[in-house]
Amino acid sequence: ETVEWDPEQAGKGEYDHFMLKEINEQPTSLAQAIEGRVDSATERIALSDFEPDTFEDVDSVQFVACGTSYHAALYGSLTLNQAGVQSTALLANEYSVSAPPIDDDTLVIAVTQSGETADTLTALRRADAEGARTLTVTNVVGSTAAREADDALFIRAGPEIGVAATKTFSSQAVMLTLLGQRIAGDLQGEPPADLKSLLPELESMPGRLDDLLASSAAESIAEQYSDSQSYFFIGRGLGFPVALEGALKFKEITYEHAEGFASGELKHGPLALVTPETPVFAIFTGQEDEKTLKNAEEAQTRGAPVIAVCPDGHPAVKAADEHLSIPETEPNLAGLLANVQLQLVSYYAADLLDRPIDKPRNLAKSVTVE
Ligand code: G6P
Repeated sequence: ETVEWDPEQAGKGEYDHFMLKEINEQPTSLAQAIEGRVDSATERIALSDFEPDTFEDVDSVQFVACGTSYHAALYGSLTLNQAGVQSTALLANEYSVSAPPIDDDTLVIAVTQSGETADTLTALRRADAEGARTLTVTNVVGSTAAREADDALFIRAGPEIGVAATKTFSSQAVMLTLLGQRIAGDLQGEPPADLKSLLPELESMPGRLDDLLASSAAESIAEQYSDSQSYFFIGRGLGFPVALEGALKFKEITYEHAEGFASGELKHGPLALVTPETPVFAIFTGQEDEKTLKNAEEAQTRGAPVIAVCPDGHPAVKAADEHLSIPETEPNLAGLLANVQLQLVSYYAADLLDRPIDKPRNLAKSVTVE
C-alpha cells in the first residue's frame, strides 16, 4: 500500500490555500520583521542593519516599486512626509519618464518582495546611474535588487507562495515605517516625535493581529455582498494606500471589478458609479475620520452599502451598514490591521467564486520583463 503525498498540499498545512495560510502567518512574520529592531524600553529603533547616522545627509527620498509593493512604498512615503522628510512614491515602470530630479543626497528605495521585478530593477539602475544613493527593501536575501543596491533591508517574512502578496505587504509597510523614523531621526538629529508612542504599539501588533484573525467577520461579509457589481475601497491619509491595496487584492483573486479611491476623491467623479450594487469599504485610521465618514455617507445616500473597517465603538460603526472590527492602535499602524480584514474579504469572496486563489489567471509571482 502506498500513501499519496502531495508536497504542495503538505505545504499548506491545515489551510485550503497558501494565501489563507500566509494571511494567518502575519502575527509571526511581523514579529520576525521587528525582532531585535525596536526597543520600546529605550525608545530606540535598533536598525543595526545600518551604521549610526547613516542617513544624516539624505535630503529627499524617492520610493520605486510595482503592484502591492508600490502600495507599501506609498505607505512608507506618507509616513516619511509625516515625519518631516521630503518623499515621493513612484511606480517603477513610470520612473524613467517621470522621476523627479535626483542628486547624490537623494535616497532611492526600491521596494520589491522578490527583488527580481524587471521594472523595479530598471528604476534602481537608473537611480544609481544618476548618482543617487540606493537601498532595497526586500524579502529575498541574495536577490538581484539586494545585490545591486548600496544597502538592503530584509523584511524576513519567510517564503510567500500565493501570487497575491499578503504577509510581505504588511512586513514591508512596517519596515518602511520603521526605516522612515530612522531616516528622519538621523536627518533631524533627534528621534521623531511619533516614535515614543509608535514603538510599544508596534510590539503589540502581532498580538492584535491574533485577536483580529480569531474573530473576523470577513467571511460573512464576503457572502453577503457576493452578488455585487463592483467593490469600492476608500481611505484617507495612510488609509489611502490600504484602499488601493484592498482593491488590487480583490480584483487579482476574484476577477471582479474593484477600485480604491482617496475618500475625498469619491465626490470628484467616482460617485457617478455608486449604486446599491456597489458596496463601499471605508477604512478609518484616525486621520480625519470625520471627513471619511462624511464621504462614506455620501455613497450610502446613493444606496451603496457601507462596510466600516474601524475599531469597536467608533462613530462609523453606527452609521455604516456593516462593520469589520480592528483593534485600537496608532494611526501609523491602524491601516495595516484594516488591510488584514480586507485580505480576508478578498480571500473568502474568491473562494465563493471558486477561483484558483493561489494562481490567478494571467498573473505571475514575479514579473521579470518590462
Ligand atoms: C507581480 C505580482 C504582484 C507584485 C508585483 C511586484 O505583479 O503579481 O503581486 O506585487 O509583481 O513584485 P515585487 O516582487 O517587486 O514586490
